[in-house]
Amino acid sequence: MRIYKVKDYDAMSRKGAAIIAAQIISKPDCVLGLATGSTPIGTYKNLIAAYNAGDLDFSQVKSANLDEYRGLPRDNDQSYYYFMYNNLFKHVNIDMNNTNIPDGMNPDADAECARYEEVIKSLGGVDLQLLGLGHDGHIGFNEPNDQFDKFTHCVNLTEMTIEANKRFFASIDDVPRQAYTMGCGTIMRARKILMLVSGADKADILYQVVNGPVTPQVPASILQFHPDVTLVADEAALSKF
Ligand code: F6R
Repeated sequence: MRIYKVKDYDAMSRKGAAIIAAQIISKPDCVLGLATGSTPIGTYKNLIAAYNAGDLDFSQVKSANLDEYRGLPRDNDQSYYYFMYNNLFKHVNIDMNNTNIPDGMNPDADAECARYEEVIKSLGGVDLQLLGLGHDGHIGFNEPNDQFDKFTHCVNLTEMTIEANKRFFASIDDVPRQAYTMGCGTIMRARKILMLVSGADKADILYQVVNGPVTPQVPASILQFHPDVTLVADEAALSKF
């Protein structure tokens, strides 16, 4: 694992965007695995700025997002489709037909998970997978568990994740209880992984992810077995190292 320690969230966002930009420049038709949440927003802003400066072309880029809430339609402002459209896609020249996000409205969970795995396969796999880190060590919505999930699946969100995400909803009752997510196996099949982590509140879990035992109780710890992981984290997040 390559670890870049940077000063703060803004520096993390600049470096994260630089690594993604390098991927797009070196392979214009690359497949990006994308994430939502607070962590990548600054990175997406920097990518948009590079696009506006004429330095980046998304016209051939393809994308596959990690996850989506089950039961939220695309136009719900908390859906991950809505997030991606408003924080990145609508600002750059990506072809929306080349973007992929699990369909939260497909009531047939098994069919949706199989369809999404097939989509990723048909794209030829993910070249660079962007990841944030949950406070319980989750990646995508792979919550602490007794085993690592190999494929896209439907999960019941933990109380910790529901609690962490309630800030985006009118009330905790509005937070969806389930989500579709790539499995840890799906994530591990990406050729390269870029994990971004910011903030003192992630310091303990980040230490466990990198230095603790590899265990499905800390899902991100599986990244220790991936041959090409770049971690960009700020001083606060790396304060326990
Ligand atoms: C989002 C995702 C989640 C987040 C994680 C961290 O698509 O898959 O695993 O990356 O919950 O969220 P933030 O960045 O909001 O702290």
